[in-house]
Formats: sequence, C-alpha cells, structure tokens
Amino acid sequence: MTDNDALRERIAAELLAARDRTTQLTSVVDDADLIRQHSPIMSPLVWDLAHVANQEELWLLREVGGRTPMHPEIDPLYDAFEHPRAERPALPLLAPIEARGYGHEVRGRVMDLLEKERFSGTRLTEGGFAFGMIAQHEQQHDETMLATHQLRTGPAALSAPPPPPAPADAATLPAEVFVPGGPFTMGTSTEPWALDNERPAHAVDVPPFYLDTTPVTNAAYAEFIADGGYDDPRWWTPDGWAHRQRAGLIAPLFWRWEGEWVQVTFGLSAPVIPNEPVLHVSWYEADAYARWAGRRLPTEAEWEKAARHDTATGRSRRFPWGDADPTPEVANLGQRHLRPAPAGSYPAGAAPCGARQLIGDVWEWTSSDFEPYPGFTAWPYKEYSEVFFGPEYKVLRGGAFSVSPVACRGTFRNWDYPIRRQIFAGFRTARSAPPEAR
Ligand SMILES: [Fe+2]
Repeated sequence: MTDNDALRERIAAELLAARDRTTQLTSVVDDADLIRQHSPIMSPLVWDLAHVANQEELWLLREVGGRTPMHPEIDPLYDAFEHPRAERPALPLLAPIEARGYGHEVRGRVMDLLEKERFSGTRLTEGGFAFGMIAQHEQQHDETMLATHQLRTGPAALSAPPPPPAPADAATLPAEVFVPGGPFTMGTSTEPWALDNERPAHAVDVPPFYLDTTPVTNAAYAEFIADGGYDDPRWWTPDGWAHRQRAGLIAPLFWRWEGEWVQVTFGLSAPVIPNEPVLHVSWYEADAYARWAGRRLPTEAEWEKAARHDTATGRSRRFPWGDADPTPEVANLGQRHLRPAPAGSYPAGAAPCGARQLIGDVWEWTSSDFEPYPGFTAWPYKEYSEVFFGPEYKVLRGGAFSVSPVACRGTFRNWDYPIRRQIFAGFRTARSAPPEAR
C-alpha cells in the first residue's frame, strides 16, 4: 500500500466515523425533536445535520474538487455567521429527510473525489488537510449536538456503558505534580491536520509550577458550595460576581439539591458521583473555586507544557503519553461513555509530569484569553479562529469524553465565553512554585 492509499483509507474511516456518530445522534429522537430548539443557545439538531453536509460540499466538492454548487440557494441558511443560533429555528431549513438526503449525496461525491485525490499540489490537499478538517468539523458539531441532547428534556434517548472504575492507586495519588521551569515548544508546525490557531510551533518560557494531578472532583467542588463559595464575592472576579448574581448560580448546571446533590445526565437523574471530575461549570465558577482553594487556574502555556513537555528529551509530545494516537486505554474520548471517568483514571495516559486525564474526560478551562500565537496566519478561512481572538473568550484544553480523537491533540485549542456551562467543561488548578522550589 502506498502512503497515499494509507491516507485515503484513514480519511475514509474518519469521515465514516463522523457520519456514524451524526446518524446516531439524529436517529434516536423523532423529527419533531430534531426541528425543536431545545435551548436558545443551541441550534435545532436538523440545522447541524444539513450544516455539516453544506460545509463538506463547500470545502471538498467546490474548493478541492472544483465542482459547481449543488444547491446554492441553501448556502446562506447554513452559514453560521449569517444566522446566530437563536435565529435558526425560524429559517426555512431543510426537513430532516431532505437534510439526510443532501448529506448522503454530498458524501457519495466526496468518496468519488477521494478515490482520485493525489494529496499534493495545493495547501488544501497536502496531507489530506481539507478532508481532515471536514472530519473534525463534523465531529465538532457532533459534540455540539451531544450538548443539545444534554439540554433537551424528556426521556433519555442516548445510552452507553459507564466508564471503567478508578484504578487502585487513584486514592493515593499526590494532590499535585511539579512541572519544572524553562522553555518548551508550544503549538505545532508539523501536525498535518492541526488547525490554524494551533500553529506555528514556538518556544515559550514557563516558570516552574504545580498542577493538580487530576481534574477537580465533584466532592471537592461540593465543599466549595458547602463553604458558601457562591455567596462570597471575595472568590469571584467583579464580572464573575455580577454574572453569578444575575444568573442566580448556586451549583454546576444540571445539579439539583434534593437533600443531597443530584445530577441530570442525558435525561437520567442520579446522585452526584463524588470522585468524578466536576462538569458543566463556567469559567467564572472555575476561577472562583481556584481562588477559594488558595490556587489559580493554569495558563494555557502551563497546561500545554504539563501535557506535552518531556523533560528527559526536551521535546514536546503529540499527547501526554507520547506520539501515538489515542486508544481506549489512555483516554476517555469519542463518546464511548456519556460521562467522565473517575479522577485518577487512565494511568497509561499520564503525562511525563505525572498528571492524569489531561486528554479526554472534561475540557479544562485555562486562565488565558484566546489569542493568536506569534506568526499566526488565518487559514483556510478567517472565521475558524481569527474573528474570535481577544479577551472575550477563554481557552479550554484537552478535550472531553464528548470529543472525537480526530478533533483532539495536545495542541488543540477550544474557546468559549466565560459564562458558558452547557459545554463539557471542568478544570484543574495550579500554583506558582515558590522561589525555594526553583
Ligand atoms: Fe460549523
């Protein structure tokens, strides 16, 4: 098999995996449910269904293949920038059966195109980039659709086996790990399917610090609540406190007090699991917890250094465990489970510094604003990253159980508003090393 054949096979498998997941997420509910808007901050599922097909047509059939538009009249409906999520239900969207038919038709033509693709000659096709971008795009929308499922009310529609129990050493892990100071390589110039905001690789000097070995657990977060953390403005930034007051926040989204904390997970109500990473907290809540704990959120550079820097070789790995792609043994990714695994899970996926679960389980809020790396250039379109740069958005790292391996790397950057809670986000805390540890 040639390299091109291997790449073709990998692309076909990733496109298929994305479509299988889209199909699963949109076939477990009826048409009325697909058309309904379950939350004003989310699209109806049927919008995502046709939008992924439209983007696939745009980038693969038109840009790579040079084909003429199949249904130019629907392009504006599925342009995410033309219509914010709240407006989408009122649009004359394709019906579920039409959206599925369109997706099927596009995919058939893409598979024909892929057969003949040489993966060279243009930057879009080099290394199969545009195909990888589209597989990631569909998986990113699948994650958004999963969040819509979590927001919908009514009987449970999704099911999956629980994650594996915590390993024997989870209870005796040190609370924090040490990450030595010095420069490391952040970002990438070599990862073929990395998106523009992950590029280019550049050296960043990070002072020594300590990082939580695992994400913050529900039990630890419940202590913050019980200690009056939501009632004490000392722990909150002024913006965070104003938001906490306005929104009436008292606990993570989907938590309810019934004599004990109960959590609704994809339509099923059950007591909060103490040793599970806390989920569905905003940046403001994560930041307040960290201050209450006498700590702080890690910066984005600290997070990436902890996840990738190999002190023995001085180089940055693709993932905490090394350069190999994720497997079920090292990380909770790909919606194999519908919740994070207990804190301390996946010892085989530990980083060189000893931190666990940096990849998978829960997205981790960092203290950093979403900003371009030095030398950034928008590519292939400004609306992927560039229009979001600035202090309005905070960076999240590491992916979650809801994230496909194809859309997750040690360099992958996610961002959202500091008030957002429907995303699958938790966090861990850090502290700077005192001078005697340096
Ligand atoms: Fe999109």
